[in-house]
Amino acid sequence: MNIQKLDKKYILPTYARADVEFVRGENATLFDVNEKKYIDFTSGIGVVSVGHANERVSKALCEQVTKLTHTSNLYYIAPQALAAQKVVEASGYDMQCFFANSGAEANEGAIKIVRKHGERDGKIKRYKIITLNHSFHGRTITTVKATGQEAMHNYFGPFPDGFVYAEGLDEIESLLDNHTAAVMIELIQGEGGVEPQNREKVQKLAELLKKREIPLIVDEVQTGAYRVGEFTASQAYGIEPEIITLAKGVGGGVPVGIVMTTLKNVLQAGDHGSTFGGNFLSSRAVCEVVDILNEKKTSGDLEITSLLFNKALQNFYNKYKDIFTQKVGIGMMCGLRVKDADTLSQIINVARDNGVMVLKAGRNTLRFLPPLTITKEEIDEGFKALNTTMSQL
Ligand SMILES: Cc1ncc(COP(=O)(O)O)c(C=O)c1O
Repeated sequence: MNIQKLDKKYILPTYARADVEFVRGENATLFDVNEKKYIDFTSGIGVVSVGHANERVSKALCEQVTKLTHTSNLYYIAPQALAAQKVVEASGYDMQCFFANSGAEANEGAIKIVRKHGERDGKIKRYKIITLNHSFHGRTITTVKATGQEAMHNYFGPFPDGFVYAEGLDEIESLLDNHTAAVMIELIQGEGGVEPQNREKVQKLAELLKKREIPLIVDEVQTGAYRVGEFTASQAYGIEPEIITLAKGVGGGVPVGIVMTTLKNVLQAGDHGSTFGGNFLSSRAVCEVVDILNEKKTSGDLEITSLLFNKALQNFYNKYKDIFTQKVGIGMMCGLRVKDADTLSQIINVARDNGVMVLKAGRNTLRFLPPLTITKEEIDEGFKALNTTMSQL
């Protein structure tokens, strides 16, 4: 069966797929239909946080499917409550969770919470949500509009009202008014180009918003689940947001989105919901992934892996300073700025041919989001293939 032909015939052409078809994986290693091996420095865009085919996650999921996968949110779901306990405890915040199925959907939930919270006194309608230019918050109509990239607003309007874009953290204060429902930011812009925000500025903004009683939403769809060393980047930045959204890495490959919030009494029964959100299957995955990553954090393995990866990346960067202009990122969300966009595309394509998968972010950033369980051998093999790549450009 020719999958490429089938894909072209039956799948809408919304993705520019690379010419490769993976069939199995082991930790940070992927194998294609011809058994060719690739080192995965992408983890499926920050999703497979505990590696491909993780034994513990696979076992938990297999066990769960033979018992129960779905009953709906009309009834209690033990793995959902346990998963919520695990993510809240890992975060250290006094929050409650709502379970959805993706990052965009988690952000939609967050937006609903702050819009309802914005009507709390019945007099002023606080509906505006300030986001940042170059942000990325998802692909639904509302989250596309929340995304501060004008090119993404082509074609799909009219959009929900009330999204206001700030050029950077410094501009936010001047945009706050009586109608501001919330500020929503990524602490490290991912799709926008691996752009970490300044810690002091973030802390100042969080303090200002607390004073003005305006909730802060931190979109941690990409930064959450220990990607930057702590369970959330918010902890790493030393702030206490009212809402954190998670997805990607917290499910380890099973679709899940989570809204965590201190605003526990805003949404009431009937205000929000999801058929699939937090079902037995995805919640079991979250429980297992969080357990595994908690253990890696406590044992010090997570930090060792991050140090090893960053050391290898630094060496690689030092060797090719004629091509890369800066090493950026925090923990295992890192990137190298490339001198021009053509060279960036070339590196990604040649690297794939050489058996290592890397990503693009923004216009000029080579992005690395390896599984948090990547081994030293896999790191070494991946950078060996990247060195070969550079010699072929
Ligand atoms: C910061 C951020 N928010 C939201 C999303 C959207 O997540 P999803 O594709 O799961 O809807 C992404 C995806 O890349 C993201 O990086």
